[in-house]
Amino acid sequence: LSKIEVKLSDIPEGKNMTFKWRGKPLFVRHRTEKEIATEEAVNLGELRDPQHDKDRVLNPKWVIVLGVCTHLGCVPIANAGEYGGYYCPCHGSHYDASGRIRKGPAPLNLEVPFYEFPDEDTVVVG
Ligand code: FES
Repeated sequence: LSKIEVKLSDIPEGKNMTFKWRGKPLFVRHRTEKEIATEEAVNLGELRDPQHDKDRVLNPKWVIVLGVCTHLGCVPIANAGEYGGYYCPCHGSHYDASGRIRKGPAPLNLEVPFYEFPDEDTVVVG
């Protein structure tokens, strides 16, 4: 299937759920107000792959990224690591709650796929 539809109300605030899309893990994360505030305030000068949080999300409550570490492709663990986003245990890459690389060998942020919200409770990826 080239597209996947996810019902957003199934994902509680603070949780990340993993789906399978085009043979890869897809993360859909329902961020808390605190996570949103933290990520929006990050100084781009601190980032290896500088991208503002606002340029990575359509709605700040929802982070939608591929669950594929940009180092060598392992699947990061959600809500882990020093930046509270994702941690890749293969070689120790830490991502923030926007999916941006913050520490470790990965060169790039987690990839944001094309997606849209056809209604308030649905995201369609692909
Ligand atoms: Fe994730 Fe190497 S594959 S840190």
